[in-house]
Amino acid sequence: MRNFLTGLWEAARKEDDYSFADVKSFLEDFGPNSWVYRPELRGANSRIFTREKEYGDSELMKVFPKVAITKPIKREVFRREVVAYMKCQEYSLSGFPIYTLEGTVMGRFFLVLPYIEGDNLEQALWKEDFSPKDVEEYLPKLARDVGGAHLVELVHRDLKPANIVVGSDGLYIVDLGLMISSVRGRDSFFTRNLLVGTPSNMAPEQIKREPVSPRSDVYSLGTVLYHIYAGRNPFRENSTFDPRKILRRQLYGKMEPLADVCDVSVEMNDLVMKCLEIEPSKRPADGLTLSRALEEVL
Ligand SMILES: Nc1ncnc2c1ncn2[C@@H]1O[C@H](COP(=O)(O)OP(=O)(O)OP(=O)(O)O)[C@@H](O)[C@H]1O
Ligand SMILES: [Mg+2]
Repeated sequence: MRNFLTGLWEAARKEDDYSFADVKSFLEDFGPNSWVYRPELRGANSRIFTREKEYGDSELMKVFPKVAITKPIKREVFRREVVAYMKCQEYSLSGFPIYTLEGTVMGRFFLVLPYIEGDNLEQALWKEDFSPKDVEEYLPKLARDVGGAHLVELVHRDLKPANIVVGSDGLYIVDLGLMISSVRGRDSFFTRNLLVGTPSNMAPEQIKREPVSPRSDVYSLGTVLYHIYAGRNPFRENSTFDPRKILRRQLYGKMEPLADVCDVSVEMNDLVMKCLEIEPSKRPADGLTLSRALEEVL
């Protein structure tokens, strides 16, 4: 798998300018309220810029690589993210940034959103003084917000600490490029053998390319909850990153019970481990169900 992924990455690099040098100099020299490049926020493909607007609020620009325009499959990811943010707004879903604008800059697609001031949860979890208490009060609402998407038949498919922003008043869900309708549950656009999602946070059925459902997001939230309390992902027992090993552990449900690796109540242990069941029907049905259970446990 590693060779395959490295090969893909190298092929993509050859085809595109992944330094984003032209866009960086254009945006950083934009005059008053110039955009600032934020390398610490870059994900797998896109690059992030932020700026403070005149009246105090800030916004974020996510700029996609050039292949997002030239390659239909990449174009679909961009289109889908725009549509997903628009849907969240149309249904007034709480916990998702409000979509502002999309377009092209220097031959690349971009997306503008309000910038939620704060680290993402992955950055927060790395900090030495992080305590579950810092985010615990926001957890039921986070699950409820994911449940809001489930109510309108959307599944996020890429819930993980890096895609959750720790704002001053709660947790926000970002990165909607993989969101799809839960009615079909299957991705007709991506080829069957392309794995979409993030190893170590995705549900076994997603790894096996079977149809996904709100229960797949519940599983991903289970990995996030486990990480918050244990200080590490359930399938990464040490810092070595071998995607094959991680995927195998997930497929066979091989992980230590949460209560064995940190100090949590029996009820919290049982709830988190239930979210991480291999069999989807054994997990809480959706974000709303998980939210109610979290409220009882906390
Ligand atoms: N509206 C927002 N407010 C604050 N921070 C955000 C917002 N949107 C994204 N971020 C931050 O920027 C980071 C990267 O954004 P995002 O996850 O959308 O892109 P990505 O992971 O680079 O996507 P891709 O994998 O498609 O390249 C996130 O991990 C998060 O920290
Ligand atoms: Mg991301």
